[in-house]
Amino acid sequence: MEKKRISKAVINRLPRYYRYLGDLLEKDVVRISSKELSEKMKVTASQIRQDLNNFGGFGQQGYGYNVEYLHSEIGKILGLEKQYSLIIIGAGNLGQALANYADFERRGFFVKGIFDINPRLVGMSIRGIEIKNVDELEDFVKNNDIDIAALTVPKAKAPQVAADLVKWGIKGIWNFAPTDLNLPDDVVVENVHLSDSLMKLSYKLSEKRKLAD
Ligand code: NAI
Repeated sequence: MEKKRISKAVINRLPRYYRYLGDLLEKDVVRISSKELSEKMKVTASQIRQDLNNFGGFGQQGYGYNVEYLHSEIGKILGLEKQYSLIIIGAGNLGQALANYADFERRGFFVKGIFDINPRLVGMSIRGIEIKNVDELEDFVKNNDIDIAALTVPKAKAPQVAADLVKWGIKGIWNFAPTDLNLPDDVVVENVHLSDSLMKLSYKLSEKRKLAD
């Protein structure tokens, strides 16, 4: 496949395509036209064609898209053909919720370790994975091939924890702490801020209220 730069907006939409196609696959749907997909996803058919054309276009005139093929190609673009090892740093409310969520495994993300500083949490198990003391984190990261660290520690602790993880070789940080991390360019950081999403929701609600007034 020709390598070309894919816009961030397209990348942002790919997981949703992947999810919809995965649902279709589960329903044994073999092929779908961009029109049908557009009706399902409430995106214009031309947007779908444009998005998928970025990857050489997987559709065939008069046939539509082969669901299984498109699903697997988008999966490859998203890097989902490989499995990822993940660790969670901070086993509080959010860290435990992530560890308890089994569905990540279905996508190929496997929780290999959970770490916390609080002795009351250390030794407890979540879905069969024991919470370890952060003292063990350095050795664990160096001796296990860990791809991603989820950061669910308090905001003030996040920059130091992230810097340590990077020093020990972590290249992917899934950052839940509400702070921007300044890390070297070869480290990928994906920030998840639920409150940003809530603020977008409140913005949309207030826009609707204004229209109704
Ligand atoms: P929590 O207080 O329940 O959990 C934090 C855990 O981190 C505690 O168990 C604490 O012992 C541990 N910890 C502290 N320093 C540590 C260190 N150096 N190494 C390892 N573990 C350490 O807090 P909660 O509610 O789970 O939130 C965790 C983080 O996620 C906070 O930064 C919070 O602001 C953020 N958050 C983000 C959300 C989002 O949408 N991104 C939503 C909710 C919380």
